Amino acid sequence: MKSQYVSELKSGHTVKEKFILSKKILKEKKDGGFYAMLELTDRTGSIEGIAWDSVAGDLKTISVNDVVFVTGNINEYNGKLEIVVNSISQIANDEIDPADFLPQCEENIDTIMAEIDEFRTKVTNPFLKKIIDMFFDDQSFVEKFRLAPAAMRVHHAYLGGLAVHTLKVLKLLSGMGDTYTSLNTDLLIAGGLLHDIGKIQEYIYTKKIHTSTRGKMLGHIVIGYEMVSRKIAAISQFPEELKLKLLHMMLSHHGEFEWGSPKLPMFPEALILHFVDNLDSKVEMMIEEIKKHRGNQKEWSDYHPFLEREIYLHEED
Ligand SMILES: [Fe+2]
Ligand SMILES: [Fe+2]
Repeated sequence: MKSQYVSELKSGHTVKEKFILSKKILKEKKDGGFYAMLELTDRTGSIEGIAWDSVAGDLKTISVNDVVFVTGNINEYNGKLEIVVNSISQIANDEIDPADFLPQCEENIDTIMAEIDEFRTKVTNPFLKKIIDMFFDDQSFVEKFRLAPAAMRVHHAYLGGLAVHTLKVLKLLSGMGDTYTSLNTDLLIAGGLLHDIGKIQEYIYTKKIHTSTRGKMLGHIVIGYEMVSRKIAAISQFPEELKLKLLHMMLSHHGEFEWGSPKLPMFPEALILHFVDNLDSKVEMMIEEIKKHRGNQKEWSDYHPFLEREIYLHEED
């Protein structure tokens, strides 16, 4: 584990620590030497850096997204903190602890997974129970599921984000099942548990959250559809109508063609899954925006490109 995180750095501090080199701009000085403008990142944030002459020269062999060991001093420049870098060297992959660089879920992930498991016990349909167990009793699946983020940015973009989002969706679905009593609650729970499982393959989450080649080419809707289809094929006599309904929920949960949904939701359980999925991601975007500005006096956020509006940031005392 690191001992100095970006969020704790103050002017005058000496730095000896690992960071991700998240940006690097090498420039030539008028006298012929080099300088480099950098951005150094860990799970708590980013700080700019400046390196001169031979130190800047060392950066020629280091790539953006490499993890580096930096020594230097913190200065305040134009009202912002920056590291004046004295030395920089690349760190080998096996010396990297992902927990240093990726934000993590604030809640205890074991508790989240235990609550998700409680929803599993409510399913009585033997075929839906079987398919859920095939995933959630598989340790290698569970290990990936509990670590995966639910997005690259804006909402649940941290280790454990997928599990946190899935649990919120399940809780919202449970309220919907209580309100609309004619609904098939087993189908709601199965859809809630499985709708985003494709994200375990869509994202890579080691030093930085980014989209895998498979994720870029197929996306989590198609990946998840494939994962569920394959399990259904292995269960003998899985009812055809139930199969179509579950697969339709996988395919339609984004709700609109322009949001990447190949199908519009065509029965109530599918429509509700889409709305609660959408609700949780949007509420989370607003909460995260408010948290980001907590402590400063800003009343309104900048224009939020995903929510397409400004967010009112002030919280009641
Ligand atoms: Fe999704
Ligand atoms: Fe989702």
